[in-house]
Amino acid sequence: MKTTVVILAAGLGTRMRSKRAKVLHRAGGLSLVEQVVQAARAVAPADNIVVVTGHQADAVEETLAPLGVRFARQVEQKGTGHALLCARKEAARKNGLLMVLYGDTPLLSAVTLKELRDQQAESDAAATLITTTLADPTGYGRVLLNERGDVRAIVEQKAARPEELAVRLINSGIYCFRSELAWKHLGEIEPSASGELYLTDMAAILNQHGKRVQQFHVDDSSELLGINTRVELADADRILRGRKTRELMMAGVTIERPETVTIDAQVRVGPDTIIEPFVRLTGNTAIGEECRIGQGAVLESAALADRVHVAPYTLISDSRVDPDAHVGPFARLRMNAQVGPEARIGNFVELKKTRFGAGAKAQHLAYLGDAEIGAKVNIGAGTITCNYDGEKKHVTKISAGAFIGSNSTLVAPLEIGEGSYIAAGSVITDEVPDHALALGRERQIVKPGWVTKRKKKRKS
Ligand code: UD1
Ligand code: CA
Repeated sequence: MKTTVVILAAGLGTRMRSKRAKVLHRAGGLSLVEQVVQAARAVAPADNIVVVTGHQADAVEETLAPLGVRFARQVEQKGTGHALLCARKEAARKNGLLMVLYGDTPLLSAVTLKELRDQQAESDAAATLITTTLADPTGYGRVLLNERGDVRAIVEQKAARPEELAVRLINSGIYCFRSELAWKHLGEIEPSASGELYLTDMAAILNQHGKRVQQFHVDDSSELLGINTRVELADADRILRGRKTRELMMAGVTIERPETVTIDAQVRVGPDTIIEPFVRLTGNTAIGEECRIGQGAVLESAALADRVHVAPYTLISDSRVDPDAHVGPFARLRMNAQVGPEARIGNFVELKKTRFGAGAKAQHLAYLGDAEIGAKVNIGAGTITCNYDGEKKHVTKISAGAFIGSNSTLVAPLEIGEGSYIAAGSVITDEVPDHALALGRERQIVKPGWVTKRKKKRKS
């Protein structure tokens, strides 16, 4: 049976106290609504998923555009029932199933959605809704059952009587309708006291028409957490991070103190890599096999080949490191820096838009920006590429095997030839040919006995 999914994501989310639409807040490295779309793809192809947008619709649609889903607009937010009505043109079908999800439930699993679909498809019910039992049901709609154990009605927190508030069976906001019946009766929802159309009223409406609404009780309620506040956002984030580290560990990655690391959903890590405590891996970071990622390292969309060692407190963003290279501690690679195989980048070295050759070394205290550095080059401590003249950036080229003495100032644009030597403390402004020695500093002057002479002078 064909399934169409509608995801409601038009609300602002007042309880977040944010300028940003709630569904764009992130948990586990993805926005809430992206997580919901990912889960929905288990039951429908992207062009059968319709996301209802309203608040910051452009931003929400831009975020989701790469996923290929369709959109419907809810210009005024008049409740979840009204939001679904806004998707009628995009989503209404005579046959098949209509699944409705809320954009603020990011923990949903594909397995649960498939089970919901199957349970509805195999039944004679008009709809199936996912319920769970909570110790503290505050804020959720309460599910009232009839004598057969089917759903009679859902009452919202605001509208519930005291005895209904005591009910701990709650509405997760995940529904699967027989498409035709949903669209037939959706128009019958009456405005609530606050003027909103509650989708939850559909339970009672279908009952009035003699249709059965069944519940699908999920025992693990963590999957159904709806995010309304930043406290719940942090809860969801923690759960998603926990799922991710467990998945990586099961795939052969060692994670020390997994509760302290932060790894985004899309990050890939090869087996036998060791991740030390308090590491943060975000974006499209991909790490090869047998790497070690030191404590406190932050990798943002970094690509690491096999056997790379990142020592503690290193920051790598949008950059690449080749096999067997060693980076850190306290190093920074950014803006498409590329570190060649077996290269060494040590403490307090920054590479920006720089290609660093195979086996090259910069072990301490250097800034290498807009540079091309050949194989086996040695960069002495304190070397600076002066790549910026206040208006433009310029390139420094250092050919293979060159030796750059400590505290060299390399004023770009500049080319330094293969196998050449730069004397320590030099300011280099002109091209250095292959195999040459370049000195760019004052010669040292020594005045013998100068101190003794001065002392004598003072006494007299
Ligand atoms: C809703 C349910 C409640 C359920 C809970 C589960 C209703 C009336 N209540 O309450 O029974 O227990 O979810 O998490 O449905 N939205 C729109 N347009 C609107 C209003 C909301 O698109 O006009 C979207 C929001 O962006 C959000 C979702 O619908 O993603 C749910 O809205 P929210 O206000 O969070 O509903 P709850 O009060 O949590
Ligand atoms: Ca909610």
